[in-house]
Amino acid sequence: MNAHTRPEQLALQAHDNEDCNTSGNPSLNDVIDARLSRRNALRVGMGSAGAAVLGSLSLSACGGGSDALSVPAPAPAPAQTPLTLSFSPVAKTMADTVTVPAGYTATPIYAMGDSLAAATPDFKNDGTDTDFENRAGDHHDGMIYFGLNAEGTAASATGSERGLLAMNHEALSDQYLHAAGTTPNPRPPAEADKEMAAHGISVVEIRKTSGKFATQKASAYNRRVHPNTAVTLTGPVRGNALLKTKYSTAGDATRGTINNCGASYTPWGTYFSGEENWNGYFFRSATDDAARGGATAKSVVSLARYGKPQNSASRHGWETAGSADKYARWNISQTGTSADGTDDYRNELNTYGYMVEIDPYDKNQALRKRTALGRFAHEMGVFGKVVEGKPLTVYMGDDSRGEYVYKFVSSANWSAADANPANRITTGDKYLDSGKLYVAKYAADGTGSWVELHIANAAIAGYASYKFADQADVLVNARLAADAVGATRMDRPEWSAVHPVTGEIYVTLTNNSNRKLEPTGSAASQQAVDAANPRSYTDAPTASSAPGNINGHIVRMKENGSDGAATAFTWDIYLFGAQADADPAKINLSGLTADNDLSSPDGMWFSNKTGVAFIETDDGAYTDVTNCMLLIGMAGQVGDGATQTLDYTKADGSKLTVQTRIGAKPTSATLRRFLVGPKDSEITGIAETPDGKTLFVNIQHPGETISKANIGDPTKYLSHWPGNAGYGPGGTSARPRSATIAITRNDGGLIGVDGTAVLNNA
Ligand code: FEO
Ligand code: CA
Ligand code: CA
Repeated sequence: MNAHTRPEQLALQAHDNEDCNTSGNPSLNDVIDARLSRRNALRVGMGSAGAAVLGSLSLSACGGGSDALSVPAPAPAPAQTPLTLSFSPVAKTMADTVTVPAGYTATPIYAMGDSLAAATPDFKNDGTDTDFENRAGDHHDGMIYFGLNAEGTAASATGSERGLLAMNHEALSDQYLHAAGTTPNPRPPAEADKEMAAHGISVVEIRKTSGKFATQKASAYNRRVHPNTAVTLTGPVRGNALLKTKYSTAGDATRGTINNCGASYTPWGTYFSGEENWNGYFFRSATDDAARGGATAKSVVSLARYGKPQNSASRHGWETAGSADKYARWNISQTGTSADGTDDYRNELNTYGYMVEIDPYDKNQALRKRTALGRFAHEMGVFGKVVEGKPLTVYMGDDSRGEYVYKFVSSANWSAADANPANRITTGDKYLDSGKLYVAKYAADGTGSWVELHIANAAIAGYASYKFADQADVLVNARLAADAVGATRMDRPEWSAVHPVTGEIYVTLTNNSNRKLEPTGSAASQQAVDAANPRSYTDAPTASSAPGNINGHIVRMKENGSDGAATAFTWDIYLFGAQADADPAKINLSGLTADNDLSSPDGMWFSNKTGVAFIETDDGAYTDVTNCMLLIGMAGQVGDGATQTLDYTKADGSKLTVQTRIGAKPTSATLRRFLVGPKDSEITGIAETPDGKTLFVNIQHPGETISKANIGDPTKYLSHWPGNAGYGPGGTSARPRSATIAITRNDGGLIGVDGTAVLNNA
């Protein structure tokens, strides 16, 4: 916007030279200048308000000269050149490297195991390293850049030379963590300790010198949180009987956060992280249903709905590492004799599955789990467009097959005074501890509704499968409440993203092997095609898979009246993943080409600088042709495409017709592949500096497919990245590591685009 104003401001400065009023009163020029400098006045342009001001008042009426109302015609605003994608698309590749377009450089800057403290030695990457409480965790995932001022003493919304990267460490490539791979149960305590500590979140300071970002090993901002870090539970469920454990008999605290997946930032400048596949880390005995009162006991119904039936093993067997409480807590079987669960960890699972807030700038502030936003496999939560005086909104996906899309609407109305508060984490209390939780229903006609999950809803209060005690119970068991109201089962909701201009909400639906023409299992285990999840097909061209939504899609929503608190919306499908040579009538519905075909969209984010969409993949279907990738797109808006009918033939020969709504098909001008990652990796996590000139991307789990038997033989590793790119020890024999890369354009320009019509001039 600033560029629009420069000619007018120059004109006013010229008049300043003729200033002849020596009084202390505000001059006419001061008044005009003040008006013109107001951002809102500038927004309307000189053709209306600005010209009216200038046209009705003389700027040269100070002696001499003419009294006539003569004003030079306002100079036309310099034309903004629209942004256009300006890079050559990257070809699909299976090379063990990060490939970016010509004219760009991608450099690893922060890998699993990197030291975050002066006293912690550099990473050897041979499985002998310890002290992961002071190292980068594994499986880098969601990530946000938080700017600092030049001195590093305060947050800066424009700081593009110095900042903090906060990121999730979702899971482990555990064989590589140990010298000879993992030891089976019972797990050695040292292995369990290392594995726990390699999860969680890290905050690392980075600085740009000579044009390159590097981490600051000894920065006082560096921080690790992991499954043993103290965490405060806040919101409506705090203190509820469902949260009482041996660790917190008051039900107001827990230890740690785990399987943190996608990430976003809050309008007050904190990091917001989703706890995703936490259920897998816990053990339940084969007789636990009976201990809890049988198959219809509420806790048994709840545990089953959250993927934790009795007789389930834990992912890493940490409960077998010893009798110490830090190990015992992973066994959530009812072993105690108390009535309220304060002598065991039967309720421990209820302390996981939340949106977690952390102040990246203040390591002394405890994490807060925000229970008002419900409990499920939180991929992440993104804030809707922020409007002064209106409630805040958070859009969230529950990433499991057939799960739901949710929205939180805050009780408090947004005040811009909270954008840079003295205490960030207590500002979070104001907006995130009270509000309404909704779940989405998509109708076939392109409309949709948000159904509030409230104990007063008759469908919830009278739900036959589970008798909710109160609103806290509804939040802890949000999946059951959403079942009760008949929400739409989606194809694995991953990231959500909000277009910075239109405010429309995008949710990636990565794939769903359970999406069928004719479900043969229970309603919960298989889903029938519907308008918002319309595809069921076998993997082209070999038909090698069972039918399902193999390649995923991205659904898009527009709130009615563009009001975040609306309970109705319209929707279409922004993009269908497909390989370019797949059937255009049934599979490649978005008309993807060799330059932009993709499978299994997962991460999605919009640049705050340029407004372009970043789409990242976590795929297992197209990986016979290409490693996972990042694409950059220019997104349109809901309704810019058309309806489309899919004609299916069922097994018995009868016809099935599904009508869906599909957005404008992308072209080479609106969607291009920007990056392809190393072998056996997922591309996830994305952040940018406020100037839009450095993009940070996370490469997760390169070469993760490895057996214990092969851990001693580097020739069996599928990937050696980033060692083979010269980062850290090991070279072309290195154990692969998850890592953050920094991407810059060699000419110093904006990432991915040319043009001047950016969204902000930070
Ligand atoms: Fe952690 Fe749903 O991806
Ligand atoms: Ca993901
Ligand atoms: Ca994923």
